[in-house]
Amino acid sequence: MKIRINEVSPRDGLQSQGKTLSVESRLSLIQALVNAGLENVEAGSFVSPKAVPQMAGTDKLFARLPDQNTVRYAGLVPNMKGYELAVSAGAKVVNVVLSVTETMNQENIRMSLLQTVEVCTAIIERGKREGVEVQAYLAVAFECPFEGLVEPAVVARFAKLVKQAGASKIIIADTIGAANPEHVKRLLDAVTGEVGSDILSCHFHDTRGMALANITVAVEHGVREFDSSIGGLGGCPFSPGATGNVATEDVVLLLNSMGHDTGIDPLDLISVVNLAEQLTGVSLGGKSFRWLSQQASKAAAEIAHGG
Ligand code: COA
Ligand code: ZN
Repeated sequence: MKIRINEVSPRDGLQSQGKTLSVESRLSLIQALVNAGLENVEAGSFVSPKAVPQMAGTDKLFARLPDQNTVRYAGLVPNMKGYELAVSAGAKVVNVVLSVTETMNQENIRMSLLQTVEVCTAIIERGKREGVEVQAYLAVAFECPFEGLVEPAVVARFAKLVKQAGASKIIIADTIGAANPEHVKRLLDAVTGEVGSDILSCHFHDTRGMALANITVAVEHGVREFDSSIGGLGGCPFSPGATGNVATEDVVLLLNSMGHDTGIDPLDLISVVNLAEQLTGVSLGGKSFRWLSQQASKAAAEIAHGG
């Protein structure tokens, strides 16, 4: 089964780092990801540089993205201003974020849930008129850091709403990494009941070490696209690896081992993890990183010995 990996480290990974990278450094990470075979990349966000200085200059970055004909790049937009900036910068795919609780929207983008629904719907509809693909994230879909557990029926209702508005994809996001396989099952039962599974993607954080188990359950529910971040980049810079996104090398290894086709060789990701580590100064690497590094060294030694 073909499964799409969507790399989010240039946005979700870098936005939370203590160190702000230059556009040049962000581009070098993206180039390395593309060289390793990633064909879907969330390259940055068009947000207020006061709110997220790590994402300043995303317009300049978009102008210089490599292999734009073969790689599908997306930019995150929190409001209509972000949409307009993204489109002027040449973005063909934009991501809107609808947090499914009131407080999370207030905290993240200073809008009420109702306002966020209106803004997201308006962006999706405008994108349709202007030939821009709009994907909708349903954030804190499992648990909200402010309001606690979220009912699957609530998420299903928002999924139906953004599908009706015309979103090309609905990404179920476990923003704080609080999901477990049983919860994923209940949530996807409810959501696929409303919108089917073809339109779905899932975004897990590995905060509690359950992301791979969650992905396995999502695959069983027909989900064929996942977000991940190289080396698990993301989360708190003071607790490396603890609260980051699920690591791309882990997801690729898991899915390839199960016989699915991600189109990516996990050994090619090792050098990208090392680069991301150099750039951010944070210790990185998913659960399989050490084993994969050993395999990569062995393969390199065999080539060197002509074997
Ligand atoms: N991109 C760049 N600048 C933006 C912007 C955007 N998408 N939207 C608003 N701004 C600017 C305004 O022009 C204004 O600039 P000024 O101070 O120079 O006049 C400033 O930001 C404040 O505008 P306002 O509408 O009052 O926004 P706010 O202060 O309520 O902040 C957001 C709202 C959405 C702009 C801000 O909270 C934000 O960018 N959040 C992003 C959070 C994020 O990235 N979360 C992670 C991913 S979901
Ligand atoms: Zn995330």
